[in-house]
Amino acid sequence: MPNTVIVGAQWGDEGKGKVIDIFAAKADYVVRYQGGNNAGHTVVIGKDSFVLHLIPSGILHKGKVCIIGNGVVVDPKALLEEIGTLEKEGISVNGRLFISEEAHVIFPYHKILDELKEQKLKKIGTTKQGIGPCYADKVARSGIRMIDLLEEDTLKEKLQHNLEEKNAILTRIYNTGGFSFDSLYGEYLDYGKKIKRYICNTKQILNDAIKKKKRVLFEGAQGTLLDVDYGTYPFVTSSNSTAGGASTGTGVGPTKIDKVIGVVKAYTTRVGEGPFPTEFTPDLMEKIRQKGKEFGATTGRPRRCGWFDSLVVRHSVMINGIDEVVVTKLDVLDDLDSIKICTGYRFGGKAYTDFPSSIKVLTGCEPVYEELPGWKKDTTRVTSYSKLPPNAKNYLKRMQTLLKTKIVLISVGSERSQTFSKGA
Ligand code: GDP
Ligand code: IMO
Ligand code: MG
Repeated sequence: MPNTVIVGAQWGDEGKGKVIDIFAAKADYVVRYQGGNNAGHTVVIGKDSFVLHLIPSGILHKGKVCIIGNGVVVDPKALLEEIGTLEKEGISVNGRLFISEEAHVIFPYHKILDELKEQKLKKIGTTKQGIGPCYADKVARSGIRMIDLLEEDTLKEKLQHNLEEKNAILTRIYNTGGFSFDSLYGEYLDYGKKIKRYICNTKQILNDAIKKKKRVLFEGAQGTLLDVDYGTYPFVTSSNSTAGGASTGTGVGPTKIDKVIGVVKAYTTRVGEGPFPTEFTPDLMEKIRQKGKEFGATTGRPRRCGWFDSLVVRHSVMINGIDEVVVTKLDVLDDLDSIKICTGYRFGGKAYTDFPSSIKVLTGCEPVYEELPGWKKDTTRVTSYSKLPPNAKNYLKRMQTLLKTKIVLISVGSERSQTFSKGA
């Protein structure tokens, strides 16, 4: 397997966890490169279902080395809880989980500020995990990194400085309580002691491994339309979830990355606020939400659902340089009489076939649809492309033509085994 990035091509929750778990079988290293515990990646193995937030989904394969790269923001409390949950299930992370010393650390003031901003300023519908405020500190050069948790003096100085600012914001702007230095300092020094064994120079480990021809899988979180540069800004997350982030978020140069695979849901979903041109009407929304179990893996919020939007995914193919596509959740469309595919937008007398940047256009546009007949057959037990109903094949073929990109794998259920290749 070449060094491969797996990226979400829509607004997240495309089924990346399942796809990464499948590809991880052939990889030596699985690396998260951005985001934090805002992600929720579900992997179903037989009767067991695992939801990973921070630890790469590759951890479920024995012997794979899992890395949390410098581009990730880490909440140490959430990390220790996730490690605890895995260990209870008999999955040990010892000796195969490594965290970049340069990854930034989420503090409780980031979470409170995330919540307060949502309540009092702009509503993005964040996961309230402190992701945005932590990345804001990173870019403002006042963030605290994993390595700082291991140096008492550095942590003391940085935390004192940060609390002066954060407590002033919390008390004077938001009229709420601040944080005590002593208790936070003690808590985070303690986290440092507990996670010291995982913190190291992960960029060196990865580059040394690549020199030895080891195979690296880069695990994207969120989706292209949630990317801070290429998504529906400001209704996005605060990192580069696109394939370029795999390089800056791990310290592996772009010349060492060979392939990008896009994970595409057979329809579209999004959680939180922001434009969604192909969003369903309430009745169909409820039907697909129930059938597809479209509830957030992190927050439990109901996901908004809509038709497949070829402008969104073509934008993703271009931005990420997607070489191949994996289509997930085809089975969720099994009962429909007919299925729509969005092929353009109309707004203010203008026709759009490329994804526009304007939120005004995206909010007000009217989608242009093609309608294809449904297949009205259960696909969850289909084990090869040739056995798919003809109308399901037509739907995939149309998708492939519109995306100008090869579909290589199709998923018809959450289980590892409910996956087959498309063939030539
Ligand atoms: P991720 O964030 O991209 O990893 O996706 P999530 O795990 O948040 O959401 C995808 C959901 O769909 C999970 O509950 C998966 O178990 C489930 N899933 C993945 N592939 C399929 C599929 O082909 N069919 C069905 N019905 N469910 C799937
Ligand atoms: P995975 O990896 C779907 C969304 C939130 C909100 C916006 C900003 O499971 O696909 P944040 O907390 O990141 O500041 O929220 O991004 N969001 C996700 N939506 N899947 C995710 O992750 C998401 N992570 C963040 O709902 O709209
Ligand atoms: Mg998810």
